[in-house]
Amino acid sequence: MRVLVVGSGGREHALAWSLSRSGSLTELHAAPGNPGISALAHCHPVRADDQSALVSLARELRIDLVVVGPEAPLVAGLADELRHRGVAVFGPSAAAARIEGSKSFAKEVMEAAGVPTAKTLPVARPPCVVKIDGLAAGKGVWVCRTRAELDEALPAAEALGQPFHVEELLEGPELSVFALCAGEDAVAFPPARDYKRIGDGNAGPNTGGMGSFSPLPDVPDGAADGIVELVHLPVLRELARRGSPFQGLLYAGLMQTGDGLRVIEFNCRFGDPETQSLLPRLESDLIPLLAGDLSQAPRVADRAAVTVVLAGAGYPERSDQGTPIEGVADAEATGALVLHAGTALHGGRLVTNGGRILNVVGVGATVAEARTAAYEAASRIDFAGMQFRKDIASG
Ligand code: AMP
Ligand code: GLY
Repeated sequence: MRVLVVGSGGREHALAWSLSRSGSLTELHAAPGNPGISALAHCHPVRADDQSALVSLARELRIDLVVVGPEAPLVAGLADELRHRGVAVFGPSAAAARIEGSKSFAKEVMEAAGVPTAKTLPVARPPCVVKIDGLAAGKGVWVCRTRAELDEALPAAEALGQPFHVEELLEGPELSVFALCAGEDAVAFPPARDYKRIGDGNAGPNTGGMGSFSPLPDVPDGAADGIVELVHLPVLRELARRGSPFQGLLYAGLMQTGDGLRVIEFNCRFGDPETQSLLPRLESDLIPLLAGDLSQAPRVADRAAVTVVLAGAGYPERSDQGTPIEGVADAEATGALVLHAGTALHGGRLVTNGGRILNVVGVGATVAEARTAAYEAASRIDFAGMQFRKDIASG
C-alpha cells in the first residue's frame, strides 16, 4: 500500500510512525509533513488546505490510501474531492464532518440520537459555558464560573463574529474515546486523557493539549465498547439516516459527571495529543483499520504510554519561530519516542516553528513507568522559552 498522510503535527508524526511499522506498507508520503516525519516518509511541500494540489499529488503518486490528520481540510470537503477522483481516503465527507465543524449541528444530532450532553441554556447566567459554533482550534470555549468570567466571555465570543451558544457547566474528569467508523459500524480504541490547560493543576487558559496518557486508572480499556454503544453508534445511525454516513474516526470528548457520562464535543479525526499515547500501545496493523476493515477492533498491548508536550515561548498566546532546539537525539537515546509537532530545519539545524514544538512519549509496563520515561527523556531536550506541564499522568 502507498499511503499519504496529510498534516504536519505531532498527531501526523505518530500516524506516520505507526504506519511505517505496518507489514502492508510499500511507500509512505506526507504533505507537508515535518522534519520528524521526513525520517519515515517522503515529504511533499503541499499544504493541508490546498485541496486541488493534494488531489493531484495523490493521483501522481498513485496513492492507495490518503490519511487526513487535521479537521479543517475534512470540514472543507477534502475527503469528498479525493473520493470523487477515485482516491481512497481515511476521513469523513464534509457533510459528516459537520459533527465537529458546527456545534449546533452536533447538538441537534445528539438530541435526535438520544445521546447525553450538556443542556443548552436559554439565558447566559453563571455557571455556564459559552461556545462559538464553528472551528476555533480550541479557542472558542469559555468556562464561566463567575459573572466576571461571563462578562469577559460574551464580548470575546461576539468578537469572533460567529454564532455562539451557552450551555450547562459540567464537572468531572474528562476522557476521550476514539472509534474507527464505517457507516453504522464502529470499533473502539481504549480511552485516553488529554490535558487542555497550559498550567499544572489545570490552571490557566485552554491550549491545543499539553499532554496525554493511556490506559486510565479510572476508566478501564474494556469500558470503551460500552461507551461506543451509548455514544458513537446512535450518532452514526443518525448521521446515516440523514444521508451523511460517517467514514473515519469519530472522537467523543466526554465528561464523567455525578449524573453519568456526558458528551462535551465530537471531533471528526484523531485527537492530538491523545493519538501520540494510543498508537504506541497498538499491536494491530494500522493500515487495514484505516482502510475500513473493522472486522477486528484495534488490539492494544497491556502497557502504558505518556505524552508530554514541549511548547514554545509565549504559547498559547503566540507561536515561536527559529529558536534552536538541542537534545532530541539524547532524548531518543533513552528509548522514548520524540514526535515533532512544530519544528523546522534552518540550514540543517532543528528550530522551533509553532506553538507546540515536540511531543515526548514514554512507554512502560505501568503509567508510572511510562511517565518517568517521558519526563526523563524530556529533561534531555532544551530550547529557549521551552515550557511543559510537570503533572501529566500523575493523577
Ligand atoms: P471543546 O472545544 O468543546 O472540547 O471544549 C474545550 C474544553 O472546555 C473541554 O475539554 C472542557 O474542559 C471545557 N468544556 C467544554 N464544554 C464544557 C461544559 N459544558 N462543561 C464544562 N467544561 C466544558
Ligand atoms: N485533544 C483535543 C483535540 O484533539 O481536539
